[in-house]
Amino acid sequence: KRDYKIAPSILSADFARLGAEVDAVLEAGADFIHFDVMDNHYVPNLTVGPMVCKALRNYGVTAPIDVHLMVEPVDELIVQFADAGATYITFHPEASRHVDRSLQLIKDRGCKAGLVLNPASSLEQIHYVMDKLDMLLLMSVNPGFGGQKFIPYVLDKLRAARTLIDASGLPIRLEVDGGVGLANIGEVAAAGADTFVAGSAIFNASDYKAVIAEMRAQLAQ
Ligand code: DX5
Ligand code: ZN
Repeated sequence: KRDYKIAPSILSADFARLGAEVDAVLEAGADFIHFDVMDNHYVPNLTVGPMVCKALRNYGVTAPIDVHLMVEPVDELIVQFADAGATYITFHPEASRHVDRSLQLIKDRGCKAGLVLNPASSLEQIHYVMDKLDMLLLMSVNPGFGGQKFIPYVLDKLRAARTLIDASGLPIRLEVDGGVGLANIGEVAAAGADTFVAGSAIFNASDYKAVIAEMRAQLAQ
């Protein structure tokens, strides 16, 4: 069995009570906090920036914060999120003019780096930079909104990504984001994912602990 991580996306949390929501999912057994940053430019929605990440750190959150940048351009926000206490910073390669430079910037600032591929984007984009990746995030919905349906062809892409990562021997996390919940987490894990973003599946449930425990039970099968 892989070292599975569950990463609730705060996009579906109650932003008016964000600190308490983050505490609640961590107490319920979450591993990472997935932090969706949208700029109403790269994606058609607007969320939160580095101030809110910093506020969570000041509030006392010590768990890894997995910052998913859906912004264009990326370099200025990479620096700001590194200063705000991000653990992972991932970005979409088409949002950076110079992908290698942006990855190196994340690493130089002491964070873990990752690329995010949209459903239709080719896996070949990671070829030359694999040794700079701590994470590969495959989108299983088009980015911008929570609560969308998992796109089934991403299962094939997960299997291909798992083969690439295993062949490389590199310790790259394979994360999946969008439409993941109790109905499909087993199948998504079987396709090779080891890190599971779940927004609506966790935050729309009344009992976070029960959902996360059920996710882990499915992963243990
Ligand atoms: C979508 C975001 C996701 C989103 C997932 O652009 O990157 O992290 O919050 O939400 P669910 O789990 O509801 O599909
Ligand atoms: Zn995300």
